[in-house]
Amino acid sequence: MTRIRLYPSGKEVDVQAGDTVLESLERSGYALSNNCRAGACGECKVKVREGEFDQGMVLDMALSQEERTEGYGLMCMAKPLSEVVEIDWGTADAQPKLFPPRENVRCVVVDRIERTPRITELRIRPVGEALRYWPGQYVSITDIQRTIPARSYSIANAPRNDGEIVLQITRVPDGKTSNWIHDQVHVGSMVNLSGPYGTFIGDPATDAPVLCLAAGTGLAPILALTDAALRRGFNKPVHLMFSSQTEADIYSRGLLELWNLRHRRFKFIPTLTREEKEGVLHGRIPAVLPEQYKDLSGHAIYIAGSPEFVNDCIAAVKQLGARDEMIHTEGFFDQAPPEVPAGERLMGS
Ligand code: FES
Repeated sequence: MTRIRLYPSGKEVDVQAGDTVLESLERSGYALSNNCRAGACGECKVKVREGEFDQGMVLDMALSQEERTEGYGLMCMAKPLSEVVEIDWGTADAQPKLFPPRENVRCVVVDRIERTPRITELRIRPVGEALRYWPGQYVSITDIQRTIPARSYSIANAPRNDGEIVLQITRVPDGKTSNWIHDQVHVGSMVNLSGPYGTFIGDPATDAPVLCLAAGTGLAPILALTDAALRRGFNKPVHLMFSSQTEADIYSRGLLELWNLRHRRFKFIPTLTREEKEGVLHGRIPAVLPEQYKDLSGHAIYIAGSPEFVNDCIAAVKQLGARDEMIHTEGFFDQAPPEVPAGERLMGS
């Protein structure tokens, strides 16, 4: 059987026929960073120390020629060819910490709430056993017949005993899946979920004050992380800054106000980019951050939103002293498989 060996721990993971390196690691509970799962973002890049693999089709912008020459690969698309593929991953005592993803879990939509004119919220429960996940992870959704392209959405709630999963879905013009959800998925509909995926998860061992920065439906994984931290009685300040165009675009407001009142250490800080309101911050988060925080060197930072938002926030928090190892990010890339742009060279086997 083909195996993946992790260096330096020497731990080994079996590969099932047809699985990528990423899928194999996830089945065994190892948290390799990933985002697009389609060879487009570069998030799952690791150095391959030994063995042969089929890299599949990936974009040059995600894996440059130099990196390929130096032995790096994108594990979301890489399929082992030799008996052993050894990759640089983790520490000498690398421990599994993710729940293995499950595929095609049949679920029922038990509630649906229109959060804003563009964002609808689905509350979904598996027909069988609950999906186990860490707050901050995401699932992919499609119809039962799997005729709609599967698309990934962050889970917006901490795990519950009844297995309910909350997804907040923005309608994207021309987005087949989001339009299917908005127009055809109703209370009582059956849907097909796979997951959980992703490594944007909280560190239960952290003892630092937490600052969460979110824009758009980047709020979803931040809600799940915050929900979990508050429920377990995290005893350091948890601040959540949310950027929206107008006050009407602030969704999940009721929950955020409840947390404001219930938890002394929690603070919700909205900022509006296209509307001025008395008593509410005005401007993008990177611009207003220095007014709110003078020194972030001791903070754990969680950032979720578009890749541009994430990058701008990283630069802003670093200006205020935030340390690399304390910054956790989730940027939402297009989940579509990479197309072949003219002149773009794709990696073969
Ligand atoms: S390139 Fe592998 S997760 Fe994006």
